[in-house]
Amino acid sequence: MLDVRGLKKVYEGSGRRVEAVRDLTFTVAAGELVCLVGPSGCGKTTLLKCVSGLLEPTAGEVLLAGRRVAGPPPGMAFVFQEYGRSLFPWMRVGQNVELPLKRKDLSRARRGELVADALASVGLADAAGAYPWQLSGGMQQRVAIARALAYEPEVLLMDEPFAAVDAQTRAELEDLVRALWRERGITVLFVTHDIDEAVYLGQRVIVLSASPTVVREELRVDLPDGRDQLHTRVAPRFAELRTHVYEQVQAAKRGTAHAPLEKSLGEPRGADAPPPH
Ligand SMILES: Nc1ncnc2c1ncn2[C@@H]1O[C@H](COP(=O)(O)OP(=O)(O)OP(=O)(O)O)[C@@H](O)[C@H]1O
Ligand SMILES: [Mg+2]
Repeated sequence: MLDVRGLKKVYEGSGRRVEAVRDLTFTVAAGELVCLVGPSGCGKTTLLKCVSGLLEPTAGEVLLAGRRVAGPPPGMAFVFQEYGRSLFPWMRVGQNVELPLKRKDLSRARRGELVADALASVGLADAAGAYPWQLSGGMQQRVAIARALAYEPEVLLMDEPFAAVDAQTRAELEDLVRALWRERGITVLFVTHDIDEAVYLGQRVIVLSASPTVVREELRVDLPDGRDQLHTRVAPRFAELRTHVYEQVQAAKRGTAHAPLEKSLGEPRGADAPPPH
């Protein structure tokens, strides 16, 4: 579904030249949920903006279902890291969520339904008539998530979407993303700082290096698909995977060499694997 090839992005201007992303190559299959982790400033947001066609790469390309991305493609939704700047302050919450739907050929009644469903699914059924600035930061971010969900995207890009919400809400929203992904078969590329979150959510975790940014490792998360906050997070395999990713991110920050998964973790053990003899 997504094919990122040799992506490079250099910001230039005001006498400054920043190589945000050096050379990124990876793919995301249709219906896959992939998490991206990497040190702060390594270019995760830059990467998502290139994937969504909001920024033009300096070199390389992004293909969406085989077509080169050259502007925001229909069927893609983006939940931005900067939630405070992603909602229109002069529009009520319901109108904010409805806005992208106006680009689709939907009846007014259907739009209303989608808005109500999306707001309910993030626990904000009562907030449709409020203005974003009347809500807390975490609530605003949930509105941004509702806006993306209401759009019923095929591909959902999320840039640290839960960074500003409390731990309880965060756990609920993580489960919401997984539930939606499983129900609707959408393709999700999810950027997070939080290693546990990446392992809990993802079918795969892509670890980026520190700047100059390349893909450091791609790790398959061999946990069962039916995950839940209580059991998954205490499973031994979860601990192994998160420890491994943690070490990779730490090593990425230091810029030291790559330790392959096999050596540091041994044979993968899924929940349905036979017990050891
Ligand atoms: N519009 C811009 N103009 C110039 N430089 C930029 C711009 N946006 C980002 N950068 C630089 O590009 C690099 C990567 O930034 P980016 O925001 O993509 O990182 P990030 O991995 O998302 O960081 P974080 O985890 O803190 O969100 C940084 O050095 C940043 O200063
Ligand atoms: Mg960022």
